[in-house]
Amino acid sequence: MLFAYFSPTRLDFDRLDLTLASSIETLASSIEIYGCRRACVWGRAVMSDGIQMQLECGNRVHGDLTEGFWDYHFTSDPLMRYLRDRRLHRALRELDKRGKLDPATQSVLLVCAGVGGEGVFLVNQGFVDVTVSDLSEKALELCRRFDGRLKTRALNAEDMSEVEDGSYDLVLVQDGLHHLPRPVLGFTEMLRVARTAVVVIEPHSGLVARAIGRRWEVYGDAINYVFRWNRNIFEQATRSYLLREDAEVIPCRFFDHNVMVNRTVSKLPLPHKAQVLAAKGIYGLLHFAAPIGNMMVGIVLKPSGPSPQRLVEH
Ligand SMILES: C[S@@+](CC[C@H](N)C(=O)[O-])C[C@H]1O[C@@H](n2cnc3c(N)ncnc32)[C@H](O)[C@@H]1O
Repeated sequence: MLFAYFSPTRLDFDRLDLTLASSIETLASSIEIYGCRRACVWGRAVMSDGIQMQLECGNRVHGDLTEGFWDYHFTSDPLMRYLRDRRLHRALRELDKRGKLDPATQSVLLVCAGVGGEGVFLVNQGFVDVTVSDLSEKALELCRRFDGRLKTRALNAEDMSEVEDGSYDLVLVQDGLHHLPRPVLGFTEMLRVARTAVVVIEPHSGLVARAIGRRWEVYGDAINYVFRWNRNIFEQATRSYLLREDAEVIPCRFFDHNVMVNRTVSKLPLPHKAQVLAAKGIYGLLHFAAPIGNMMVGIVLKPSGPSPQRLVEH
C-alpha cells in the first residue's frame, strides 16, 4: 500500500499525517521505486518528476555566470528589444484599453520568471512593485544581482499555497506554464493569487503550430511537453475555476518567432533602425493570419464582488 504513495505524482500529504509524511519524504528522496525519479517536497506539496527535473535544470542553467550569457534579457539593442518585448507590450495595451493598467499603484507577481527579464521590462515601464518568482533559487540570485529594483520570491507555480488569494493586482507568466507537468494547475494558481488580472503568454495551438510546431522541449536531461493553449481551453479553465460568467477572458492570438525573424532581418544589408522596421513589416504581413498563429497573449480580468453563479438557487 505504502508503495503507491511513493509514486512522485501520487504522493499527497493532505492524505497523510505529518509524521508519516516526513518519513516518506526522507525515504523518497533517497531511493527510486519502480523506475520513478526521486520525489521531493516543496513546502507541503510533493514535487512531481517533471518539477524535480525543471528544478535541477533551472539550478544548473542559472549557475552559468559566463560573461554575456544573460545579456539577451537586458540588452538595449532596438531590434532585440522589439522582438523580446512585443508580447509584453501587447499585454499592457490590452489591459490599458480596458482601464486595468496602473503601473504606479499595481503590484505584479511574475511566475516562472527566471532571471527577471519580464521584471526589468515592467519596472522600465513604470511599475514600482514587481516580484519575480521562480522554482530556481539560483535564477532569483541572478535576478537580484542584475536589477536591485526587483523583489524575488521562490515559488513552485503549481503550488503557491504560501501566497494568499488575491495578493497581487497582476499576475503574469511568459514561456513558463508549458514547463509544468500540470500547466492548467499553474494557471488556476495564478487566478487564485491575482486580484485584478492574469496574463498568460504561452504557445497557442493554432493550425501551423499543430502541423509543424515543436511538441517536446529538451534541455540537457530535462524535458517538457509544449502545452499549447487555445481560446476554448483558456476559457473553460478560467470559468471552471472562478465559477464566474462575468470574468472577461481575452485570448489574443498571433505569430511570434523572434529567433527566425531576427535571423532574417539581421542578414539584410540595412541600418539598425531599418531592420526594426523590416521585423515590424514581417509581423505586419502575418497579422492577417493571427488567429492561426503560434502564440497567445491571454488575459483574464477578474470581476470583484460575489459570483452570480454561486448565488444561483440549486
Ligand atoms: C523558459 S524559462 C522562462 C523564463 C522567463 N519567463 C523568460 O521568458 O525569460 C522557464 C522558467 O520556468 C521555471 N520553472 C520551471 N518549472 C517551474 C515551476 N514548477 N515553478 C516555477 N518556476 C518553474 C524555470 O526555472 C525557468 O526559469
